[in-house]
Amino acid sequence: MRIAVFGTGEVGSAVAAKLKTLGHHVVFGSRHPGDPRDGIPVLSHEDAALHGDWIFNALHGEHALETLAALPMEGKLLIDTGNRQSAIDGPLTETLGEALQRALPNTRVVKAMNFPSAQLMGAPEKLGATHSIFVAANDAGARAEVIALLESFGWKDILDLGDLTACRAMEQLAPMWIRLHEKFGHVYFNLAVVRRPEQM
Ligand SMILES: NC(=O)c1ccc[n+]([C@@H]2O[C@H](COP(=O)([O-])OP(=O)(O)OC[C@H]3O[C@@H](n4cnc5c(N)ncnc54)[C@H](OP(=O)(O)O)[C@@H]3O)[C@@H](O)[C@H]2O)c1
Repeated sequence: MRIAVFGTGEVGSAVAAKLKTLGHHVVFGSRHPGDPRDGIPVLSHEDAALHGDWIFNALHGEHALETLAALPMEGKLLIDTGNRQSAIDGPLTETLGEALQRALPNTRVVKAMNFPSAQLMGAPEKLGATHSIFVAANDAGARAEVIALLESFGWKDILDLGDLTACRAMEQLAPMWIRLHEKFGHVYFNLAVVRRPEQM
């Protein structure tokens, strides 16, 4: 699949590397196009948007909306991993996932992977236990496609939370991640939604 990963930070680098090992045609979209990073081309935002049938938003949470809304995204599937600083500073008034979908009505926005650390996104086995990941999108078909991608990443407990109003729960987890990070002093933790085996 042709995939453009926007952002060359921790999340973008981890996700792009995983996609490359899985055989996808992956490029970065960056403010600083130039030499490839770990064999992955680094294109301008515009060129990356043209390349990707799928787009990963791994941009800084405060700059994702203005950046992506200005690009040709029509007909594409956009996986949004972002968190807004406002979710950390206080109650979130508007989620990034819903704002992206409003700004890009002809793009299928899927919220996923905004809680686990970048180090676990493409390597969930590093925890040595089953842990959960959430997916939300208004388009059920898009949710199914992203769930299949997450399965290829190695995720086992993928919880389909329905439409993008679920972002109000998912993105409000950001301050919890920050607190846990402060407590543990490392990034190797995640949530697991424990339930009775007969009611999975
Ligand atoms: N780090 C994690 O473990 C983690 C886990 C879950 C979710 N998230 C979320 O994932 C997103 C990415 O996080 P991150 O830690 O990888 O990196 P980040 O520090 O939030 O920045 C990611 C990238 O955004 C681009 N960027 C920065 N400022 C920008 C601006 N003014 N305009 C346009 N683009 C700009 C940069 O890419 P270029 O220099 O290439 O343009 C940068 O590398 C965030 O929303 C974060 O909350 C992070």
